[in-house]
Amino acid sequence: MYFIANWKMFGGLNSLNSLHKVMKFFKTFKKKRIVKVIYCPPNTLIRPMTKKLKNSKIEVGAQNCHEKLEYGAFTGSVNSKMLKSVGAKYVIIGHSEVRKAGENNRLINLKIKNSLSSGLKVIFCIGETLKEKRKKLTKKVLNQQIASGLKKIKKSKNILIAYEPVWAIGTGIIPKKKELFETITFIKKKIKNLKVLYGGSVNSDNINQLKLIENIDGFLIGGASQDHKKFIDIIKKTYN
Ligand code: 13P
Repeated sequence: MYFIANWKMFGGLNSLNSLHKVMKFFKTFKKKRIVKVIYCPPNTLIRPMTKKLKNSKIEVGAQNCHEKLEYGAFTGSVNSKMLKSVGAKYVIIGHSEVRKAGENNRLINLKIKNSLSSGLKVIFCIGETLKEKRKKLTKKVLNQQIASGLKKIKKSKNILIAYEPVWAIGTGIIPKKKELFETITFIKKKIKNLKVLYGGSVNSDNINQLKLIENIDGFLIGGASQDHKKFIDIIKKTYN
């Protein structure tokens, strides 16, 4: 099971102060062999976080990258090689918040290809909006996102899929159990042998419901991951 913290645009150096508590918890956690914990902080914290987590099994990832592999005149951008060079092992690509800002499927495909060739593992986000869900377009949208996002990419164990329905992100609403099970099954049929995580309002209360869905391979956690107690709680409760 994966537990991935997406800190989004939150956190300064002082946010790293509580990491030792997560490390301490994880060190003695009985299930640690079957659990993977990954932090995706803002780029400014990747290096200091990698240093703090050096002696632990917890890994660090980034939240996005530029699509080009070479250095270039792209003010404000960072590419996958640069992320790798400061210690990132993963990168989130295709998050709905980035898609909303103009990232399209073609760009996502390029970012995934280049991140893989830089040696990063990719957390590829897909998910429908509320409007699409209401129009019963969920499967169609997911199909398109998968087909174009992974175009000409050989199946890779270095890709994780994160199903994040846009309407569930930051809203406190999660899909119904049956609905989520079916959507994850659908995704797994489309792309065989890849891990599929769920993201969207995962917290220490609803984890008791979510953990019952057998085909979920982990969680991508936004808000609740910034509070170490809540994050630890989510991991603990998954196995209680
Ligand atoms: P929340 O957990 O805050 O809903 O965010 C989910 C998310 O977007 C993770 O990538």
